Amino acid sequence: PRARVVKSVRSSLTISPAPILTKLQRDCATPLPVLRHVADAMAADMRAGLEVDAGSDLKMILSYVDALPTGNEKGLFYALDLGGTNFRVLRVQLGGKDERVIATEFEQVSIPPELMSGTSEELFDFIATGLTQFAQKETGKFHLPQGRTRELGFTFSFPVKQTSIDSGILMNWTKGFSVSGTAGKDVVACLNEAMKRQGLNMRVSALVNDTVGTLAGARYWDDDVMVAVILGTGTNACYVECVNAIPKLHKPNSTTGGKTIVNTEWGAFSNGLPLTEFDQEMDAQSKNPGEQIFEKTISGMYLGEIVRRVLVRMAEDARLFGDSVPEKLLMPFSLRTPDICAMQQDSSKDFEVVGSILYNVAGVNSNLSTRKTIIDVCDTIAKRGGRLAGAGIVGILQKMEEDSQGIVFGKRTVVAMDGGLYEHYPQYRMYLQDAVTELLGDEISKNIIIEHSKDGSGIGAALLAATNSMYEH
Ligand code: GLC
Repeated sequence: PRARVVKSVRSSLTISPAPILTKLQRDCATPLPVLRHVADAMAADMRAGLEVDAGSDLKMILSYVDALPTGNEKGLFYALDLGGTNFRVLRVQLGGKDERVIATEFEQVSIPPELMSGTSEELFDFIATGLTQFAQKETGKFHLPQGRTRELGFTFSFPVKQTSIDSGILMNWTKGFSVSGTAGKDVVACLNEAMKRQGLNMRVSALVNDTVGTLAGARYWDDDVMVAVILGTGTNACYVECVNAIPKLHKPNSTTGGKTIVNTEWGAFSNGLPLTEFDQEMDAQSKNPGEQIFEKTISGMYLGEIVRRVLVRMAEDARLFGDSVPEKLLMPFSLRTPDICAMQQDSSKDFEVVGSILYNVAGVNSNLSTRKTIIDVCDTIAKRGGRLAGAGIVGILQKMEEDSQGIVFGKRTVVAMDGGLYEHYPQYRMYLQDAVTELLGDEISKNIIIEHSKDGSGIGAALLAATNSMYEH
């Protein structure tokens, strides 16, 4: 496909994209004071959100998880994970302390895009159908005592106001979902009704956010896990909090020293971020303008789109692709984060991978200097995202440290990470770690282990279903 002239390129004197790149780099810069401000603001917003509901950008949602997995969990449990472009179903046979995970099986189903903006019933019927088909394929590796209802950990990765461990109301959709009729409803009831329509005898024992599932799953193997972060389509973090540090719980003089997990919903953070005109335009045209600003700056759904907007500007104002603006590039979200990631991995002499991605995505031929400019744009956006994510993590640790007087920074503390962006984007990961080290200094950051906990959220949800099982195991 050849580029068509769809918009005439401005005949300005600026024919080099360099000034646009320089301005972008300046607007996206994250020197130490900016990182420090973000970390401090994150910690302050956390406190404000723990005071009262709607006290800050951060919802600081109570998870009702008050017992973390111990390793003693036993039995057959299911998990369902809904939160991005796929949903996953999983079953796991848990064998207690010695045997741990005896067997697992999972399936992944992609969600047809039209269901992401259809009705609530359509979406939940689709999920319940997949779950039913999966449950019917239980093999001999798995053992359920006669007459038992199957129990499910339901990972639902959107802001939910939990009302108990097994119920919660969807506050609003994020990540491009706009299904009608779910906001304001109990999502467990939605799933139960759909399972009933399918004739599936299964009960939701735990409703969890993906961050909470990840924390539980990682904690099963490592007692030092205190924080979990998702960097995928969207982004979020949760952490272990003391019950008596949560004023909005109204248990002021609790002496039990109880712990719980708080889901920060940090995607909604917005304080002091270095934003550009491209971010503002993307936000204004999104399904949730003014919301999820941190998420729109650092997560996988948006990084490619920000780069695309910069490239369109460079094409229009600085003839990046010659006389025309490639029509395909004008389509929102046509450049995806995996594309910009793949371009950054190109180590060939003439950046041939970049060339072929540009040809596939935008239908254009490019010269060497164009390719180099584009890599610089990708790097600028990935760097800002990774460093801000790192600052967010430090903000959470800082808040925990202030409350615990030395416990967090003074010993091994693990931050469990998951999500496709973190898993597949090495530069992003490196920038994130750099920011954490810069902020904490070498000594402290040696104690802070930021590690990938792959697909922990499924097992984590199953473990929490086990903890909250209605049966003795
Ligand atoms: C979005 C959701 C949040 C989820 C995150 C990562 O920010 O609102 O609940 O944890 O994406 O999937």
